Amino acid sequence: MNIEIRKEAQALHSYVVNLRKHFHQHPELSLEEWETSKRIQAELTEMGIPVTPAAETGVIGLIGSGGPVIALRADIDALKVEEQNDIVYKSCVPGVMHACGHDAHTAALLGAARILKAHEEELNCTVKLIFQPGEEVSKGAKMILEAGHLDHVEQIFGLHVFADIPVGYVNIEPGPRMAESDYFKITIKGRQGHAGKPQQCVDATVAAAAMILNLQQIVSRETNPIDSAVVTIGHVECGTVRNVIAGSAVLEGTVRTFSREEGRRIKNAVKRVAMGTAATYHATANVEYNLSAHPAVDNDLDVAEIAFSGAAEVFERKAFLEVPKMMLGEDFSVYQQRVPGAFAFIGAGNEEMGRAYPNHHEKFNIDEDAVTNSVMMYLAYVQEYVNRKEQEAKGKGTGSDRKAAAQEGGLFGRFQKLRRERERR
Ligand code: NI
Repeated sequence: MNIEIRKEAQALHSYVVNLRKHFHQHPELSLEEWETSKRIQAELTEMGIPVTPAAETGVIGLIGSGGPVIALRADIDALKVEEQNDIVYKSCVPGVMHACGHDAHTAALLGAARILKAHEEELNCTVKLIFQPGEEVSKGAKMILEAGHLDHVEQIFGLHVFADIPVGYVNIEPGPRMAESDYFKITIKGRQGHAGKPQQCVDATVAAAAMILNLQQIVSRETNPIDSAVVTIGHVECGTVRNVIAGSAVLEGTVRTFSREEGRRIKNAVKRVAMGTAATYHATANVEYNLSAHPAVDNDLDVAEIAFSGAAEVFERKAFLEVPKMMLGEDFSVYQQRVPGAFAFIGAGNEEMGRAYPNHHEKFNIDEDAVTNSVMMYLAYVQEYVNRKEQEAKGKGTGSDRKAAAQEGGLFGRFQKLRRERERR
């Protein structure tokens, strides 16, 4: 396959930027992306790409015919945020804003689709475009999956723009990248009574105070310091008036981890500490615990390496930035539970333009070079996948070792080392 990725993506720059501005100006909330969906379908149809609606407001497009299927995913929904940017393409929907850059993802995947369609004859696989609704409510990926759209997919690639990463930088790393986010509610029952007669009461406030402190030990004393986890109590409610001992208390909190096992371990610990502490104070505790709808985003080594090697042909070496894993969640992980997948971070911030507010901020905006960089990232992954399949068919190996050997150090070295370790196993 021979896409001149940088050149062809840059030729489409104004196309994708205009699309991004259009989506930005007309944001729609999760699972209500009807107009967004219509526009996506119209663009794909105009390109000659067959479309299927999926998960109600989602859209699936197919390029190529036959061969293994690989999927590219973009999320399309906006957030309940009142935009505070002073721009001509400012959201025209009160209280709704593309404050997470999904407008950029949608535009970028349409740009990549246009170029892939032009090179359709060179494909030895089928590229499935997944325009996913409802990411912000953690429902869209599950709906797409349950409708069977991933059934014959071999691997999946997705990306996200971040304005707190400067534009020009890109990141793909193997392993955990984004967190699982669980939450819980603890209801403590004691015995209410007179503030002057504590001996007749079971003080739920004191039990709650002890519980809040004891729960902190789960991370500090029971979690491997090399791993990352968070236990936060964000909401406490107890008591009504100063001279009454509270008979009940409620604590609400969230837990962030980077694996399901870690999430389950902390779940058990929260229950144990809550019940044990309550018992110490003659109270009882009821724990309602909700494991996140999506686990941590955990990048498959092979898929990450394909995307990385492809990107290394397109981006300069200094564009690759090592980015620590994030305590944010992403339902892309739902797909990764089913098929191997990788998720890239795309730098989109520009301090000079005043566009470096974090995602979900009411002044969030991006340097639109990030949209074109996202187009290039999608294409880089597909082209590398296709070329490797071609080489495999010719019995020439994957070519990855050649590239990795030529580029030691940093992320390049890391991928090479991981690969060697795995081959030894
Ligand atoms: Ni997002």
